[in-house]
Order: sequence, then C-alpha cells, then structure tokens
Amino acid sequence: MKRICVVGTGYVGLVSGACLADFGNHVICADIDLDKINKLKKGIIPIYEPGLEEVVKRNVEKERLFFSNDVAESIRDTEVIFIAVGTPPGTNGEADLSIVFKVAENIAANLNGYKVVVTKSTVPAGTGMKVKKIIEQKAPKGSEFDVVSNPEFLREGSAVNDFMRPDRVVIGSNSERATEIMKTVYRPLYINETPMVITNVESSEMIKYASNAFLAVKISFINEIANICEKIGADVKVVAKAMGLDGRISPKFLHAGGGYGGSCFPKDTQALVKTAEETGVQNLVVRAAIEANDYQKHVMVSKIKELVGDLKGKTISLLGLAFKPNTDDIREATSLVIIEEMLKAGANVKAYDPVAQEATQNVFPNITYAKNAYEAAKDSDCLVLVTEWNEFRELDLPKIKSLLKRPNLVDCRNVYNPEEVRKLGIRYLGVGRGYSAINS
Ligand SMILES: NC(=O)c1ccc[n+]([C@@H]2O[C@H](COP(=O)([O-])OP(=O)(O)OC[C@H]3O[C@@H](n4cnc5c(N)ncnc54)[C@H](O)[C@@H]3O)[C@@H](O)[C@H]2O)c1
Repeated sequence: MKRICVVGTGYVGLVSGACLADFGNHVICADIDLDKINKLKKGIIPIYEPGLEEVVKRNVEKERLFFSNDVAESIRDTEVIFIAVGTPPGTNGEADLSIVFKVAENIAANLNGYKVVVTKSTVPAGTGMKVKKIIEQKAPKGSEFDVVSNPEFLREGSAVNDFMRPDRVVIGSNSERATEIMKTVYRPLYINETPMVITNVESSEMIKYASNAFLAVKISFINEIANICEKIGADVKVVAKAMGLDGRISPKFLHAGGGYGGSCFPKDTQALVKTAEETGVQNLVVRAAIEANDYQKHVMVSKIKELVGDLKGKTISLLGLAFKPNTDDIREATSLVIIEEMLKAGANVKAYDPVAQEATQNVFPNITYAKNAYEAAKDSDCLVLVTEWNEFRELDLPKIKSLLKRPNLVDCRNVYNPEEVRKLGIRYLGVGRGYSAINS
C-alpha cells in the first residue's frame, strides 16, 4: 500500500485515483477546482463514465479515497505524486506544458521527504527531465525525489475497465528505488501478470505518442479506403473485416466513419508532428492522418448536402454529439463541425445526445435540443447519426420515416444496413458503402 496524491481530478486523474485506491492504496485526489472537489466530497461524479461512481463510492466508504483542493498539503501528505493535469495544444500545435510545470513547482515547494513524481499526463519526450530540473532548482537543497513516466492508455467510455485490466502498464524510470515503488502501486496488476514495460523515461513518453498516433493513422487510413470504396462500388465494412482477419493488421480501429475526435488523438498527433519538426525529422505519415481526419469531418457535411440539396431554411437533426459513445466529452467531436457548417449554410439544427447535450449547450446555446431520437427526427429534412450510442442502434425506422419531413438519413457510423433502410423508402448514405449504393 502506498500513500498517493493524484494532482488533477479530470477524466484521467479521477479514474486513476479511484482505481489506485481500489488496488488498496491510500489516495488523495487533489484539484484546484473547488466546485469539482465539493461535488466529489458530496458523492457527485462530475463526469459521465460508466462504473466510476461505484468505484469512487466503494473506496470513499473504505476510507482509501479522499478529495482535497489543498494541493500543497496533499503533496506533503503522500509519497507518490501523480501529475494528471491537462496538456492542451499550444498555439502552434505543441503540447502546452505550463500546468504540468506549475504542478512541478508546487511539488518542489512541498518536498518534505523522498517522493516519486509520476507524470501520467501525456507529455512529449524530454518533459520528465524538465520536471526533474524544475524540482531540483526549486526544492530545498538535498531533497530526495525521482521522476517517473507512467502514461495512461484508458479510453473514455470504458476507462474504469481499461485501468483495472490494461493491455500493459508502462513505467519509465531511471531509478531502481522508484521502479520498486511503482510496482507496489500497481501490485494487483503486477501479481496477475499484466505486462509491465519498464524502460527509461523518454521511451515511456514516446510510447504514448507513438500508440495514439498509430491508431489515428489507422482510422484515417480506413476512412480514406472508405471514400475510395464509395467511388468504385466496394463495401468498406467487408473490406475492413477481411483486412482485420489478418493477424498483422487486427480488426480494431478499422471502422470507417466521420473522423476521430476527443481530447487525445487530435492534440497528441499535433504534438508529435511538432516534436518531429523540433528534432528535424520528417513526419509525413502523421501529418497526412491529421489532414485526412479534418477532411473526413467535411465529407459528412457533403453527404448531408448530397441528400438535402440547398440547406438554407432546412432542418438538420443530429443523433449523438459526444466524440464517441459512453462519454459526455465533445472535445474535437465531428458533431461540432457538422453543426457549424449547417449553421453557416443557413440550416436550422436540432440535436439529441443521451449525456453530452449540456456540454454542447455551452458551445451552441441557440440550436434546438430534443429529448430523444424521435423528437429530433420530427419535421426534419435529414437525420444524421453521428455517435453510435446503443440507443441509436435499434431505432424504429418506420416511425422515424413517418416523423421526418423528408426521409433522409446520413449514417456516419455505418450502424444500419443500407439495403434494409432503403427498402423502407429512406434515402440513406453511410460511409464507404459503395457496393450497396450501386445495388440499391
Ligand atoms: N481523457 C482521456 O481519455 C485521456 C487518456 C489518456 C491520457 N490523457 C492525458 O491525461 C491528461 C489529463 O487529461 P484529462 O482528460 O483528465 O484532463 P481534464 O481537463 O479532464 O482534467 C484536468 C484537471 O486538472 C485540474 N488542474 C488544472 N490545473 C491544476 C493545478 N495547477 N493543480 C491541480 N489541478 C489542476 C483541472 O481543474 C482538471 O480537473 C492529459 O495530458 C491527457 O492528454 C487523457
């Protein structure tokens, strides 16, 4: 059991803190956002993440999980300090590390004995060394500490499960003492033989960027294949399935759609391109994936235009606003691009999402929000399925057709079978379904 402080109680910090407590550690989740901490102290979970509430509740009751907005005291009170604050994109796409460095200064000021400082935030290679320097410069002379990199691979929407049952745990450490402490922190995973990759700090930092960039490239690749499939009469679903059966390729992240979003892939790919630039390395592949992803979001807009024609005065309804199902996160979501383009073209926008409506209201307060998919479809000129929430997988399509003003459906996630939908008299466009388009 270790005494841990997780600085930053967002998606990563809260999930990590709660799960590390579940592993048997004593954890303080510290954040400067007083409102968030007060909510958590009252048992209110500020984000939507399946299963998180139970883990938080269980560990608060067992007196292993605590919340505090006194970050300094929480640091003094613990031995292992996880930095889990945001690293948003800076003005030129580089990772903005100012919050990480501010936390490093706070740690330095409160170093009252040996501590392991763990960067869990996604940070470019070299950041660990910078954090070390800041602490060395600002901490009292002779202070003992080590800096470790422990990137997080959880996915929003399945974060608790991902943290509890990860494919691997990566620990970048240049100190035996710190490595042993990290093994204790992750003891339940260590004993159940979860692969542990123990390496130096720089490799660990790079593993995170390389993994995210690879997945982003994979998505952009299949989207591009989908766009070609449409033109030549092939069906990307079949193409991707057959590709995925090749063990070297794997079926994951081979679903064509409207482009990736979220708080990680867009910013991490940009940051990797920036690192390549700064180190004088050509980075054409990741750069192309970013460009292809921006383009793909606009391909969805073109599909709406193809079905509806002139958008002025038309009503376009979106099903799903979150960047993926099971989260309320709308950062970089395809829905935002579609809404913006529809409004620019003079259309009225209606939208429904099971949990991401409140977040979207802050960005687009003047569009109409519906209570369910059917209310969204009512009197609309086109229904656009943007996020594949489960509740959109089994819609009563005859009812949807009767509610729509014009029977148009753009399925950005290829949830429906094109032939079956078209048989109902609904004009349907999926992504990369050229075979069915030609045969309908
Ligand atoms: N969200 C994901 O799915 C995911 C997955 C893997 C890695 N990451 C990485 O983890 C990091 C955190 O991401 P997130 O999505 O949890 O961010 P977030 O924005 O949800 O949370 C960050 C938290 O840090 C707090 N904070 C800001 N400044 C602080 C300070 N000085 N002291 C204490 N707390 C402070 C904020 O109030 C906020 O609660 C990022 O580097 C991100 O790239 C995110």
